[in-house]
Amino acid sequence: MSKAKRLYIKTYGCQMNVYDSERMAEAMGGAGYVETDTPDDADMILLNTCHIREKAAEKVYSELGRFKGLKEAKPDLKIGVAGCVAQAEGQEIMRRQPMVDLVVGPQSYHRLPELEAKTQEGAKALDTEFPVDDKFDTLRHRPKAKRGPTAFLTVQEGCDKFCAFCVVPYTRGAEVSRPVGRIVEEAQDLVERGVREITLLGQNVNAYHGAGPDGVDWSLAKLIWELDKVDGLERIRFTTSHPNDMTDDLIEAHGACAKLMPYLHLPVQSGSDRILKRMNRSHTAESYLRLIERIRAARPDIVLSGDFIVGFPEESEQDFQDTIDLIEEVKYGYAYSFKYSTRPGTPAAERDQLPEDVKTERLHRLQARITHHQRIIQDDMVGRTVSVLFEKPGRLPGQMVGKSDYLHAVHVADADVGIGQLAQVEIIESGSNSLAGRIVSK
Ligand code: SAH
Ligand code: SF4
Ligand code: F3S
Repeated sequence: MSKAKRLYIKTYGCQMNVYDSERMAEAMGGAGYVETDTPDDADMILLNTCHIREKAAEKVYSELGRFKGLKEAKPDLKIGVAGCVAQAEGQEIMRRQPMVDLVVGPQSYHRLPELEAKTQEGAKALDTEFPVDDKFDTLRHRPKAKRGPTAFLTVQEGCDKFCAFCVVPYTRGAEVSRPVGRIVEEAQDLVERGVREITLLGQNVNAYHGAGPDGVDWSLAKLIWELDKVDGLERIRFTTSHPNDMTDDLIEAHGACAKLMPYLHLPVQSGSDRILKRMNRSHTAESYLRLIERIRAARPDIVLSGDFIVGFPEESEQDFQDTIDLIEEVKYGYAYSFKYSTRPGTPAAERDQLPEDVKTERLHRLQARITHHQRIIQDDMVGRTVSVLFEKPGRLPGQMVGKSDYLHAVHVADADVGIGQLAQVEIIESGSNSLAGRIVSK
């Protein structure tokens, strides 16, 4: 048997890319590749890229530049670009970086072995189609390797919402949901391999409407209730949700389904109705706040997180203030915030842009308020007993680290628990980025 070739994958962007990188590694496993964690000894390097902001996209080219020496030393080394930059810029990548052998878009990963074979013949390979064959279908037959206690599972991809700032509808294509049966099968397989917590992924995960075994489309809530029946699966999360797809049955599930964790990522982007309209978000600040009220009525202790864009075209100081007001009202446990970045081909890129220093200053002000609430929510955990799923040993001997149901990192000294074990933990201290606790029961 010939020696296995080595594949190095570097992943940028969202969790969906993390999931996709795992699938690519498995697909290439079938073509005789094993994964390596350094580019230095690799026979193939794959960059799984993100196009969401300018900086993310530019990173790809600087990273490729760094591989020049490797490629010169080892001309057989194959270099591939996958993900959303591959989808958005395709051929352009090979023009800018002629050493790239392969470009593959997010919907074509099942074709990777074929594309790799093409590069072995000395040809360049490019596939950025949105093919009719289902990439998940072909990627199903995977080796039964042991897994860590948490895993991502993509249930829905793509987006039809076309927010004026966003490239996702162009890079990931139209919204598609996977059938219920396939998802349950994959969840069962993950559990058999040691997974205890699954995060269901989708760019608009709560718009999920996959074909159920009864021939009708199921909602995300219905899918969650089905996964609730999977023995050995202890925790379910989902991300990312859109406010307009937060249906009653999903809100209800947050109150009723014990495996569904009390944490919800619900991006709002802005607190100004004028800007929300210009963003094509099709919800208002008020409708978002009322929605949060309903979610909190169903699950009072839920921790909320969000995404914010500051410095969107035409954002005035008052618009920005409206966003701050919304933050003060919601009190997020966590948030991701970004300066608006112009993306080629999106409507907002054509509009008058705000100066960079205004964006930077607003970002700092917003982040200070987010951090303030985040701190209070984290500190409030002291004295409470939470469930923790242990994921890895900590830095100190005997220490174990895991995540609480509210997604806080929790470490316990002299824990005497294994990876993948759940325990009830009393929180005794709130540190800079994590909580310290003691085990009350296992
Ligand atoms: N599908 C998710 C997230 C998409 S991208 C959703 O609908 O919420 C993740 C986040 O990146 C977005 O929520 C937004 O806050 C940010 N983002 C997207 N495009 C951006 C841009 N052009 N500039 C700055 N931030 C952007
Ligand atoms: Fe982008 Fe908006 Fe779709 Fe989210 S809902 S992926 S922000 S277009
Ligand atoms: Fe980036 Fe594509 Fe995800 S643009 S955020 S990797 S969907």
